[in-house]
Amino acid sequence: MSVIVADGLTHRFGRELALEGVDLVLDTAEHMAVLGDNGAGKTTLLRILATALHPTAGTLQIAGLNASREKRRLRHYIGYVAHAPGLYPALSAAENLRFFCDLQGVPHARVDEVLEIVGLHHVADRRASELSRGMQQRLALGRAILHDPKLLILDEPLTGLDATVARQVKDLLQQKVRDGATVILTTHILEVAERLADRIGIIQAGRLRAEGTLAELRTRAGDRDGRETLEDVFLQLVGEPS
Ligand SMILES: Nc1ncnc2c1ncn2[C@@H]1O[C@H](COP(=O)(O)OP(=O)(O)O)[C@@H](O)[C@H]1O
Ligand SMILES: [Mg+2]
Repeated sequence: MSVIVADGLTHRFGRELALEGVDLVLDTAEHMAVLGDNGAGKTTLLRILATALHPTAGTLQIAGLNASREKRRLRHYIGYVAHAPGLYPALSAAENLRFFCDLQGVPHARVDEVLEIVGLHHVADRRASELSRGMQQRLALGRAILHDPKLLILDEPLTGLDATVARQVKDLLQQKVRDGATVILTTHILEVAERLADRIGIIQAGRLRAEGTLAELRTRAGDRDGRETLEDVFLQLVGEPS
């Protein structure tokens, strides 16, 4: 089943064209990484997919529902980790999760489970503002998985994490995909896209320039014997900087 069917997604901020004509289909249990330089439009695309932003043109269906009309129903379906962690700094880790349980109609018993999953049990009573950045990011991820969403949308979930924590987050995402969830994330770390995702999208100046498996992207970049790294392919597809 198609989880995401996006057709011609376009977004303007005033005169700034942030996203232009993005078509995208993502099926159940697919894991996609969206790559692109700063300002390419990654965050704008994810905000639209998470129904946090209305596209100025184009249509979006999620789980067969019209995303603009069925936003409320889709809240249970989608877990979104935005660029900023979106936590209440004065509340403890556990209190933050309890608060978001209430919003999602999830029993508080789930909080302990999720703290365990994201490895924050030992800091459950510490204020969010006193957690390290990596811990805050894991707490934001915990918030996003509280209601066990079928679709996880994550904006740079690995940026700024040390290797150990990044590994834990990667493992968690892979487990989610094995459990049947669909994951789409942005990253500017090529190695993350290569190792983690089964599909890679490359976005540049608001357009989805290329999309496919690494093998498909290699072929598209004109590499027939598969020797080039994703970095070579990426630079070829977005054009080498002059
Ligand atoms: N809220 C906003 N208001 C005005 N322009 C924005 C806003 N958000 C993003 N943009 C612009 O849209 C373009 C794409 O931004 P963004 O989606 O954040 O890119 P990325 O996440 O790939 O770095 C950029 O040129 C950025 O300046
Ligand atoms: Mg961004």
